[in-house]
Amino acid sequence: MSANLSAVAYIGATILFILSLGGLSNPETARRGNLYGIVGMTIAVLATVLGPRVTAAGIPWIVGAMVVGGAIGLFAAKKVQMTQMPELVALMHSLVGLAACLVGFASYIDTSIVFTGAEKAIHEFEIYIGIYIGAITFSGSIIAFGKLSGKIGGKPMLLPARHLLNGIGALVVIYYGYAFLQAPSIETGMTPLIIMTVIGLLFGIHMVMAIGGADMPVVVSMLNSYSGWAAAATGFMLSNDLLIVTGALVGSSGAILSYIMCRAMNRNFISVIAGGFGTGDSAKPSAGGAVPAGEVTAVSAQETAELLKESKNVIIVPGYGMAVAQAQHTVYEITTLLREKGVNVRFGIHPVAGRMPGHMNVLLAEAKVPYDIVLEMDELNDDFPDTDVAIVIGANDIVNPAAEDDPTSPIAGMPVLQVWKAKTSIVMKRSMASGYAGVDNPLFYKDNNRMLFGDAKKMLDEVLAALKG
Ligand code: TAP
Repeated sequence: MSANLSAVAYIGATILFILSLGGLSNPETARRGNLYGIVGMTIAVLATVLGPRVTAAGIPWIVGAMVVGGAIGLFAAKKVQMTQMPELVALMHSLVGLAACLVGFASYIDTSIVFTGAEKAIHEFEIYIGIYIGAITFSGSIIAFGKLSGKIGGKPMLLPARHLLNGIGALVVIYYGYAFLQAPSIETGMTPLIIMTVIGLLFGIHMVMAIGGADMPVVVSMLNSYSGWAAAATGFMLSNDLLIVTGALVGSSGAILSYIMCRAMNRNFISVIAGGFGTGDSAKPSAGGAVPAGEVTAVSAQETAELLKESKNVIIVPGYGMAVAQAQHTVYEITTLLREKGVNVRFGIHPVAGRMPGHMNVLLAEAKVPYDIVLEMDELNDDFPDTDVAIVIGANDIVNPAAEDDPTSPIAGMPVLQVWKAKTSIVMKRSMASGYAGVDNPLFYKDNNRMLFGDAKKMLDEVLAALKG
């Protein structure tokens, strides 16, 4: 393939990637967005492999690597549970970081292209920055994977004088960056490069270890952003325009997502990075949280069905437990039945419900719940006072009134769905255990709240049977 044709293919792929991102921003166009992304990536890979910079001798190696990588990816994607998605994503980000480091070292020792003067300085600067971002992304994502999968504890590890340590690390990286750019030969440049890589790796570990369980969603999207910048840096090292654009798209969309999630959790981005919030211990309330008092009122599936039958307006708030129980299909059947009876059923989706952005939307779309009754938190939070029954299915933190009422709560200030303002709220969960943030929930003890204890799928099946009966 000629250089011109490959450039045209790259422009086509870039447009498809932008259309893909646009499509993914709405559930109704998400499939199309995905398709654009797949086609764009296929064009990008073909244009690169068949492009002017790959020799015929290199093609079998590339195809071999693609077959092995593709097989592992296919296996992982088939095997992974929806609830394990964030872990998989974190692991994928680590690979982007690793690739940036390897490409950086390979570009440095590659003598086939000789740079001189300013070009040499720019190329080496790109290598230095690329490897640094790659190293942070690699080790940070591995730790994020460990934390999300429970292999490493969720508690923030706060070293004494950690900000000072980070500051000293940054100064050392700048110092060796200067030494690297001044190095007269590859051999002498290698030492500063390796020292910087080790500091980058340690910084990635330190940064994510210091972040508490409750802030992990932001960290995953932040690492997503880093992986984009690492890919863009790789693009600079390889003089590959498409990789630069794609990396920048991922980097900036990841940064925007991190910002949106920080806003959804009322967290300041800088304080998330500074670390320390959230215990990640879901078994007991964390210190400083509201200590609710009183008794809870349990209801049966039969009573829940009766309440629903008598309602005009119902809001369903799904959370992580609905995903665990895979209850979305029963939720859809109940919704259809109630709508046939003339009940106005809507869904309230919190931006960080579940364990990944859009988690609930994906599950509800899979179960064929119509998009127009699935609303964002801000769209229906004022409607709870006019709601007869608010059903909370396996959600906890996102409906916790302590976020509004208790300034000492670790989740104070996080916007939540105000289900307690409905005439009756029903919380479906298996026990009194706390949610992801590890804080107790005063909602459970409110006079107008009922608890329907049990696995969400099992209890909803019983509610459905009672509704039909
Ligand atoms: P959580 O606060 O984690 O609460 C989920 C509840 O579901 C638990 O209290 C659990 O109680 C219940 N549950 C678990 N399995 C169940 C089952 N089989 N049947 C019925 N209930 C079940 O979830 P949420 O309200 O969706 O809030 C999300 C939390 O995760 C937030 O703190 C958020 O910051 C965090 N987070 C979000 C993301 C993203 S991006 N969405 C990523 C990582 C973390 P029982 O054990 O008593 O059943």
